[in-house]
Amino acid sequence: MASTLEQGSQIVEKSLLPSHVAIIMDGNGRWAQQRGKPRVMGHRSGIASVRAVIESSARKQIDVLTLFAFSSENWRRPQDEVGLLMKLFIEAIQSEGKKLHENRVRLRVIGDVSAFSQPLQDQIAEIETLTQNNDGLLVNIAANYGGHWEIIQAVRQLADQVKSGEIDVADINNELITKSLALGDVVPPDLFIRTGGEQRISNFLLWHLAYTELYFTDTLWPDFDDDAYDLALECFAGRQRRFGRIAEQLGSDKV
Ligand code: IPE
Ligand code: IPE
Ligand code: MG
Repeated sequence: MASTLEQGSQIVEKSLLPSHVAIIMDGNGRWAQQRGKPRVMGHRSGIASVRAVIESSARKQIDVLTLFAFSSENWRRPQDEVGLLMKLFIEAIQSEGKKLHENRVRLRVIGDVSAFSQPLQDQIAEIETLTQNNDGLLVNIAANYGGHWEIIQAVRQLADQVKSGEIDVADINNELITKSLALGDVVPPDLFIRTGGEQRISNFLLWHLAYTELYFTDTLWPDFDDDAYDLALECFAGRQRRFGRIAEQLGSDKV
């Protein structure tokens, strides 16, 4: 019998769970504004949702979780909000790092971290090193990340390899490009979730989302609890992924 995971009334068969979930955690600012509080309170509350979604993913034995924490475009926000986000980022790594390690989580940051302050870069390097050999859930935090940036990095790397004679132009294929990307060593996301009501990709994982199932919810990120996550996973379990084929070719009972 296939193993099942029971969450309240929701039961999702393990084989129907995604291996990789990618989330745009959106709506913190509006959550705070609706309560007459400064936007940063929403970011603070959002950390509890991050903790919950990591714990839930680990419990469900999902392999990879990629969370969009700060985009390359988010520098355009008011300076004080950016400053507070950076402060929160440092605090969160300090307060959560040890527990993540104890739970065998491997934490990685993808994005151009060179733009961050030295103390933040040091914290990131420290937690990545501490957790690098863990065999549990892999959590990728996308920080100062942009899909365009990631592709530009890959193109530059491949161009260098052509220039040095390491590869030929004709060698450049899907696999080589994928391997040159920041997220090139894991399976692409099966499920993409965006909270906060907007239905756009906002420069997240442009290459990797080619065949990802997209799920949008109006729930604001600080309200995204276990039940909301289960709802997204249940919706995913009902999707039929055809990858260009027709239903009759799949031999699936979800036709
Ligand atoms: C997402 O919430 C968090 C970050 C982008 C850092 P927002 O801050 O975008 O919240 P809204 O969309 O303004 O409500
Ligand atoms: C996307 O959210 C980035 C993160 C959640 C980190 P934004 O709130 O920045 O996206 P836009 O500006 O509404 O597209
Ligand atoms: Mg937003």
